[in-house]
Amino acid sequence: MFEQDILNKANSYMETFHYDDVSGHDIAHVNRVTKLAEYIASNEQKGHLLTIQLASILHDTIDEKIAKPKEAKARLINFFAELNLSQTLQESILHIIENMSYKNGANNNTKLSIEGQIVRDADRLDAMGAIGIARTFQFAGHFGEPMWVENQDHNIMQETNQNYNDWPPSAIKHFFEKLLKLKTLMHTKTAKNLAQQRHDYMQDFVQTFFKEWYFKY
Ligand code: ADP
Ligand code: NI
Repeated sequence: MFEQDILNKANSYMETFHYDDVSGHDIAHVNRVTKLAEYIASNEQKGHLLTIQLASILHDTIDEKIAKPKEAKARLINFFAELNLSQTLQESILHIIENMSYKNGANNNTKLSIEGQIVRDADRLDAMGAIGIARTFQFAGHFGEPMWVENQDHNIMQETNQNYNDWPPSAIKHFFEKLLKLKTLMHTKTAKNLAQQRHDYMQDFVQTFFKEWYFKY
């Protein structure tokens, strides 16, 4: 099968999987991740492009937050067989998509291929910046979390060093437990540069959010 046909089929598979998602894992997220990953690969001049593209397109199709992972993985392996992908390519894609996610930092030490590092950088970049902010509030709304829960520890001037473990779940908590840490977790130089801008924007956002929430007169 030609590469373009493989990519088209993978895109259709992905679109069927994500078509009605409103939890921050919609088709547009996957398309942005794919574009970012292609950009990083081209800028770094690294990685096998088809592996990067397929891993990007399929990266959330076995995510436990939106699918039953065992069934989803079996379906994906059947799909690989339909595409006649080589065993090596199948294995490298599966290794990437099973190990790239954040999982509270638990996957950070899993060694990923350069292709995996690029796709992980791209996925993490899409959790940052203006899009990252929007996805976080969409996720929180979808899963019934509030925007923010006031607590006594909170000091708006020192928001990066909070002991957030004791905070009840909220969209704003997610910035401390994950989003504001992502810039230090990028693998490639290209992603590090993009992450810095997106980080600064989120930091501004959180500060402004608190200024407005704790409005003083
Ligand atoms: P992906 O695997 O595509 O990186 P995740 O499944 O981790 O995405 O989350 C999807 C989106 O929702 C991301 O933007 C993420 O930061 C956000 N998100 C994840 N967990 C939470 C949470 N507990 N509260 C608010 N937003 C969250
Ligand atoms: Ni994703």
